Amino acid sequence: MKTIEDLDVAGRRVFVRADLNVPLSGGTITDDGRIRAVAPTIAKLVERGAKVVVASHLGRPKGEPDPQFSLAPVAARLGEILGRPVAFATDTVGESAKATVAALADGEVTLLENLRFNAGETSKDDAERGAFADELAGLADLYVGDGFGAVHRKHASVFDLPARLPHAVGDLIATEVGVLKRLTEEVERPYVVVLGGSKVSDKVGVIDNLLGKADRILIGGGMAFTFLKAKGYEVGSSLLQEDQIPTVLDYLKRGEENGVEFVLPVDVAVAGSFPDVKTQAPVEDFAVVADDAIPAGTLGLDIGPRSGALFAEKLADAKTVFWNGPMGVFEHPAFADGTRAVTQALIDSDGFTVVGGGDSAAAVRILGFDETKFGHISTGGGASLEYLEGKTLPGLAALEG
Ligand code: 3PG
Repeated sequence: MKTIEDLDVAGRRVFVRADLNVPLSGGTITDDGRIRAVAPTIAKLVERGAKVVVASHLGRPKGEPDPQFSLAPVAARLGEILGRPVAFATDTVGESAKATVAALADGEVTLLENLRFNAGETSKDDAERGAFADELAGLADLYVGDGFGAVHRKHASVFDLPARLPHAVGDLIATEVGVLKRLTEEVERPYVVVLGGSKVSDKVGVIDNLLGKADRILIGGGMAFTFLKAKGYEVGSSLLQEDQIPTVLDYLKRGEENGVEFVLPVDVAVAGSFPDVKTQAPVEDFAVVADDAIPAGTLGLDIGPRSGALFAEKLADAKTVFWNGPMGVFEHPAFADGTRAVTQALIDSDGFTVVGGGDSAAAVRILGFDETKFGHISTGGGASLEYLEGKTLPGLAALEG
């Protein structure tokens, strides 16, 4: 893959496909990690006199403009981080984008509006995606792929556009891929993987692949309840994917055969309903119960304190750790302790620790931990999981050659 250094960018329009899909609450950015992660690439291009055209998606709008998914707040934050103005185009390939790009002087930056306001961006139809990529190509002379969080998407700006312009890999993607290689090629053992988040089905591929590689797999978050149910425990009204139980049983069996230890929660924090994360209202019926004693009518919303301690113990001697997915509803203080315990265990670890994923990365920062204490905090959740599954990622394949 070519790097930015291989491109002659001075005076040329450089399209930077970033992943600026940051969490927003009422128009306010709650975690700017992804903006900060790509800023050095943009700054480097600015320094070298490029006219930088940054583009990204945000959320999942339905192929037409939708103000709640506007990138306008991101343009403002990007400008603050770069310490220079970022002109915001109010469309992607329309009059505003054309005029804003045409007005760029060398070393200036613009951010286009959300790419997913155009149906062509995410279309499954090659011709429709290609037509949108053609329009985007008209805005630039060169392409830099640096949206690591979106490289698993076969989308126009990720997959089709690089085929239309001389291209290079950005510094963020280069770093992310270097880290993931370290997790797949030369793993130092014990290699411990912590998986959380809501759905087992999102993690099926990665668990399958890790059964041949990891020494221990710790399961928390909503997905743990399908594992507990598979063990024969009642899980009350907790999140459950019944259809995944045969798969989970197969994993547990294969884990035993391959010497991979699955570690499940031994206790659970429950309540009668989902907490109000907006108002952060206290949870009146909060309780901690054993894994085999979840009362009917309650739902598990975090791993309990004994599980937090057990997970920390299982992480203590790790030489390599990969963590994806929060242990509970960390957005509410009543259910943040499990995620906090795992985060602290990673910080205390002497091994190479990787936090993979939008949600877990955001959790680490939102809970106030120092992000420099980790080996690497990835900007890509789905992307890093798919990489670890061994899949070909369209956005990386497009940057080859
Ligand atoms: C992410 O947040 O994982 C990336 O930005 C990709 O977003 P998507 O899942 O909506 O494609």
